[in-house]
Parts: sequence; C-alpha cells; structure tokens
Amino acid sequence: MDSLEQTMADAQARLEAAVADRHAAMHSPVVGTPDGDMRVMVLRAVGQGLAGLRFHTDARSPKVATVALHGRASVLAYDPVARVQLRLSGPARIERDGPVADAAWDAAAPFSRRCYLAEHGPGAPLPAPGSALPADLLARRPSLAETEAGRAAFAVLLVEPETLDWLRLDAQGGQRARFVRLGDVWSGGWVAP
Ligand SMILES: Cc1cc2nc3c(=O)[nH]c(=O)nc-3n(C[C@H](O)[C@H](O)[C@H](O)COP(=O)(O)O)c2cc1C
Repeated sequence: MDSLEQTMADAQARLEAAVADRHAAMHSPVVGTPDGDMRVMVLRAVGQGLAGLRFHTDARSPKVATVALHGRASVLAYDPVARVQLRLSGPARIERDGPVADAAWDAAAPFSRRCYLAEHGPGAPLPAPGSALPADLLARRPSLAETEAGRAAFAVLLVEPETLDWLRLDAQGGQRARFVRLGDVWSGGWVAP
C-alpha cells in the first residue's frame, strides 16, 4: 500500500467483498468477546467508514448475553492468499427488534432462517450428537410461513469498530498500519509489522 488512505480503502473493500461473496476469504471472520471467547460468524454487512459490521445470531446463544453485558466486540478477518489480516474492535450491541433486525430477517432466505427454528439454543445440552432442529425439518427447506416462528430467536450483532489494525506479511518484511476512529474520522499511522 502506498498510503494510509489506500490502506483504509483496502480494508473497506475486503470487508465489502466478504459480504457480497460467500467464497471471499473474509466472509467468515472470528468475532471475539471481552470474556475471552471467540467464534466464527458470517459477515452480513459493512457500512462506509467501516461502520456497522453486522452479524446474525441466535438470541439464545451465550455471546448475546456477553455482548449485552460488556458492550464491546472484536473482529478478526484473514485472507490467506493475500496474507492480509484485519483486526477491528469497538462498541457492540445486540438488536432483537427494530428496523435493522426486522430488515435483516425479512431479507433472510428460508434456508438461512431454518437454524432459528432449533428447539434449543446454541450450547444447550443434548442427549445425543446432532442438530437441535425439529426432526421433520432436518432434510428439507421450510416454507417461508414456517420460518416465522424463528423470528423470536433471531438477533443481529452490530459492531462499530473504533480501531483497525491492517497487516500484510510478505518476503520483504511486510507492512502494518494502525487506525483509530474519533467520531466519523479515522486517523492512523504505520507501525512495525
Ligand atoms: C462456517 C461457520 C459459520 C458460522 N456462522 C455463524 C453466524 O453467522 N452466526 C452465529 O451466531 N454463529 C455462526 N457460527 C457458529 C459460531 O461459530 C458458534 O459456534 C455459535 O454461534 C455459538 O457461539 P457462542 O457459544 O459463542 O454464542 C458459524 C460457524 C461456522 C463454522
């Protein structure tokens, strides 16, 4: 990257590509919570200026309570071909109702909605290995009407990054930049990889 502006633009473009293309390298970043836990989640949206990283989740999952308690999250995305790592962190919130959650639910396909029909939330004990979906839904796509029962278990996780660490490793020693957001303005500088 020739400039810090170009580096910020690269991060934005990589995350936009991740949202648009499920085969993109950064489609499924790792989301960390302040309790030290982390998990893979599909990135659903990113706004301009790296605002509003949106993820979808089951409202019954432990991370929902953790985010509600601490109000922060981090996101790690990695492209192994480009050898670019993005680390972002900032305030985070869960929305179960409201326009963002409603729009995300409305746009979700029946097959994507199916997981919210699970009879037990993620992490609940099961008597045997396997899914928590009702048996009759295991091998088929539910109708749109059937999926409406899943709306109560659907939530969005919104992360508003206020730090970005951009790193690319290469044979020449690599390149790294760190950025901080104040309000809507990102500023940054080069750091040692
Ligand atoms: C490829 C892949 C994609 C996943 N996408 C999501 C996702 O978009 N949302 C989600 O809540 N969990 C997703 N998961 C499951 C999480 O990694 C995690 O196991 C689950 O959400 C429970 O997390 P928790 O116990 O931290 O709440 C995905 C897992 C894999 C392997």
